[in-house]
Amino acid sequence: MLVPSRLNRFSIAPMLDWTDKHCRYFHRILTKQTLLYTEMVTTGAILFGKGDYLAFNSKEHPLSLQLGGSDPTALAQCAKLAQERGYDEINLNIGCPSDRVQNGMFGACLMANAELVAKCVAAMQEQVDIPVTVKTRIGIDDQDSYAFLCQFIETLMPFTNTFIVHARKAWLSGLSPKENREVPPLDYERVYQLKQDYPHLTIAINGGIKTIDEIKQHLQYVDGVMVGREAYQNPMLLTQIDSQIFDLDRTAIDPILAIKALYPYIEQQLTHGALLNHIMRHTLGIFNGRKGAKQWRRYLSENAHKQGAGIEVVEQALTFIS
Ligand SMILES: Cc1cc2nc3c(=O)[nH]c(=O)nc-3n(C[C@H](O)[C@H](O)[C@H](O)COP(=O)(O)O)c2cc1C
Repeated sequence: MLVPSRLNRFSIAPMLDWTDKHCRYFHRILTKQTLLYTEMVTTGAILFGKGDYLAFNSKEHPLSLQLGGSDPTALAQCAKLAQERGYDEINLNIGCPSDRVQNGMFGACLMANAELVAKCVAAMQEQVDIPVTVKTRIGIDDQDSYAFLCQFIETLMPFTNTFIVHARKAWLSGLSPKENREVPPLDYERVYQLKQDYPHLTIAINGGIKTIDEIKQHLQYVDGVMVGREAYQNPMLLTQIDSQIFDLDRTAIDPILAIKALYPYIEQQLTHGALLNHIMRHTLGIFNGRKGAKQWRRYLSENAHKQGAGIEVVEQALTFIS
C-alpha cells in the first residue's frame, strides 16, 4: 500500500487574489511545515502571458502550483516548467465554479468530463517526477451522488493518488463563486467514505474548517486537511500547526515578532516597486481578538496604500497593539 503523503497533511487553500507571493511569504513565517498553494494560474497566462506567473520566493517551500486548464498538452508544458522552477507539487483545479472559468473549460465543470481530466493528469504526470494532485468538489449540479464521485475518482486513479476534496458540491449556474462556498451544504462523511473505500489514496478534506480541534478530528478519518478562509482571516491559527498537527517541538511565534520578521522582505519588495499595502493587507487579521486589533487594521488600511509608505507605517500601527 502507498504511504499517504505527509506533504498534504495540512495545507492552505489556493485562493485567487489572496494567496499571492506576499501572502505566502507571510504564512511561511507562521508555519514552516504547512503546504502552501499558489492562486490558480491558467495555462494561458503561463504560456502566453507577459508576466512571470511562476515566480516565487525560495523561502515558500513546500509549495504547490495550482493550474487551471483542460488542454493536456498545455498543462503538460506548464507542469514541466513548474518542476524546472522548483515547485514541490502541481495541483489541477477541478473545483472552481466561476462563469469565467467555465467559459475557459476548466474548474468544476470538468467533473462532468472525467476522461478529459484523466488525460490532463496523465499528460502532466508523464512530464514530471513531483506529485500531480487534483482539487475537486463532491459533485456538480444534479450529478451529486456518491457513485458519481467514485466514478470520477476511479477514472483518475491510475494517474494520481492524491485528491483534495472540497466537501460540498458546486452549482455551475445560479450561484456566485462566493455563494458556492457557502450555500451547498458540507458533507464531510462523504469524503471520509472515500478514504474508507479507497484506502490507498491520499485524501485531504476541505471546506469550513476553522480550529485546531476540528483539524485533528478530520485527521482521524482522512490524510490531510486544507484550510482556506480561516487561515487567511485568522492567521494566528497557523502558528499552532507545526506543533499541534505536525507534532514538531516548536513554540508558536509571537505575532509582533512575526510582523517584524517581515521587515527585510518588505524593504526588499518596496525597492522592487511593491506598495506596502500589497504585503500588509494579508496581515490585517493577525491581532484579531487582541486589544488594539481594530486600530491596527484601520491604521494600515488608511496608510499602507500611500506612495512612499514604508516600515514606519507598520511600526506606527504596531503601537496600537497592547
Ligand atoms: C477569495 C477566494 C479565492 C479562491 N480561489 C480559488 C482558486 O484559485 N482555486 C481553487 O481551487 N479554489 C479557490 N478558492 C476556494 C478555496 O480554495 C477553498 O476550496 C474554499 O474557500 C473552501 O475552503 P474554506 O472553507 O476553508 O475557505 C477560493 C476561495 C476564496 C475565499
